[in-house]
Amino acid sequence: MSDQPPVAQLAAATLSDAAAAVAVVPKHEFSDRVPIRSILGRPDGGSGLAGQRARVGGWVKTGRKQGSGSFAFLEVNDGSCPMNLQVIVDSAVADLGLLVPTGTCVALEGVLKAPPEGTKQKIELRVEEVVHVGPVDPAKYPLPKTKLTLEFLRDVVHLRPKTNTISAVARIRNALAYATHTFFQKHGFLYVHTPIITTSDCEGAGEMFQVTTLISEADKAEKELIKNPPPSEAEIEAAKLLVKEKGEAVAQLKSAKASKADITASVAELTKAKEKLSKLEERFKLKPGIPQKDGKIDYDHDFFARQAFLTVSGQLQVETYACAISSVYTFGPTFRAEQSHTSRHLAEFWMVEPEIAFADLKDDMNCAEAYVRFLCSWLLDNCLDDMEFMAKNFDKTCIDRLRMVASTPFERISYTEAVEILVDSVKGGKQFENKVEWGIDLASEHERYLTEVKFQKPVIVYNYPKGIKAFYMRLNDDSKTVAAMDVLVPKVGELIGGSQREERYDVIRDRILEMGLPLDPYEWYLDLRRYGTVKHCGFGLGFERMILFATGIDNIRDVIPFPRYPGRADL
Ligand code: 4AD
Ligand code: MG
Repeated sequence: MSDQPPVAQLAAATLSDAAAAVAVVPKHEFSDRVPIRSILGRPDGGSGLAGQRARVGGWVKTGRKQGSGSFAFLEVNDGSCPMNLQVIVDSAVADLGLLVPTGTCVALEGVLKAPPEGTKQKIELRVEEVVHVGPVDPAKYPLPKTKLTLEFLRDVVHLRPKTNTISAVARIRNALAYATHTFFQKHGFLYVHTPIITTSDCEGAGEMFQVTTLISEADKAEKELIKNPPPSEAEIEAAKLLVKEKGEAVAQLKSAKASKADITASVAELTKAKEKLSKLEERFKLKPGIPQKDGKIDYDHDFFARQAFLTVSGQLQVETYACAISSVYTFGPTFRAEQSHTSRHLAEFWMVEPEIAFADLKDDMNCAEAYVRFLCSWLLDNCLDDMEFMAKNFDKTCIDRLRMVASTPFERISYTEAVEILVDSVKGGKQFENKVEWGIDLASEHERYLTEVKFQKPVIVYNYPKGIKAFYMRLNDDSKTVAAMDVLVPKVGELIGGSQREERYDVIRDRILEMGLPLDPYEWYLDLRRYGTVKHCGFGLGFERMILFATGIDNIRDVIPFPRYPGRADL
């Protein structure tokens, strides 16, 4: 204003300069807020940021009005770390009743302040502006503030990431995925994307989900036939007659040396009649149900013109790359249609599968051990806050277990030695549900006895009887065992299954036949042995089992975002 006294103008200028001088905590590069981790995750717990402006966004964990409703404390979490940021909002700034319900989304701007002496927070946010509120009706919100069981949360998979436990698991899972790529990339492995849809059964166990469009096509055809019935034979006959007539008309015109224009017009009519006939014939052939040939389902009509499945393992396909570019790995979802209702099995789980050329069973064990130990160290170095949460809420020993595994060489024993140990333990009074004798597939109780009781550390069991292992494992000189290895860890049992692969053409061919498998579908796999065969090995780590091992959580359904198991596939 032109009539404003110069003194007032000066005062205004000084104020805005002061405001501009207030430091601002840098926002997230791709969103309009400061991740809470970059405040509370600092070595000083955020105290060094006192006095700085910040905008945060998150969801209210707990909110309570205080001072007869003159202000409210909110604990806000944005998932970037397990810690909540404490914020204080005055009733002059916002309708506090709207902010305090658990689950409310808030975006808040204000100044970070050191809280009063004696409180556990190192820093809190004094809110000056409420930028966004995503309200929650507490009467309807499915996740009340009370402690909820993991089992309960499985019924609300779409909301459970909002809980402390599931978000901590998500961060640990993410860290393990990053660590996996870091480990293999560091050691010169190439990441290969193997197919999810496959026509080979890697484990030969026949536990595959089929991929087919025959059923939905049959459904579609059925509906379509009701709405639009197929032509009758009389209609087809009439259409055939028309084609015949039109054909004769063309012939007549040609023999009468009619004009080019007349012939062309007549040919066009013939073509139209032929098209109509072929459409009618096509529809006439439409039959409800799944196409059959010689009393069997006719897969020629299926999407891929053959039977196809969801993969149980990317191994066979990743071997094609190992036999060409040496050190590779695949990491993706795998599927097993087994009726396992245990806390260690999923119908859809993720597997990390390295495959190494010019390497034998010993190299395989060395790689598996180095990888698992790397994962444990990584969590200790990068996820300690989440691990502390797990130790406090689920498994007191989980951090010690990571430290132990990161620093202890694994025990290595042959299958034969493992059976001897188990037999001895039975003699000493130990009882197992499953009988122990040479040749059995070790049951989970046996595996856990070896790793949890006998050795109290990870154990690698190698050289299993050929009768209980897959066709691709290398036959040992004793002709009784194969160069297989399983890594067993406390809490979980089998974490890794792997082997040296049979690289000798004649031997693997005989093994396929011996196991009663058809040769034809494996011809491409045999080609890897026919052309430039190489000694090679690999293994598969069950990614969810690794998370169970790390976190101490009891059920595998709680460490994958969207668990799939018999009878259940939500979302
Ligand atoms: O021992 P598996 O069946 O081995 C293979 O599939 C090999 N083709 C791997 C390879 O050599 N490339 O499975 C490997 C691991 C198991 O040790 C286990 O940790 C996990 O995958 N696993 C499962 N995890 C969750 N649910 C299931 N149903 C699982 N089946 C196996
Ligand atoms: Mg196995």
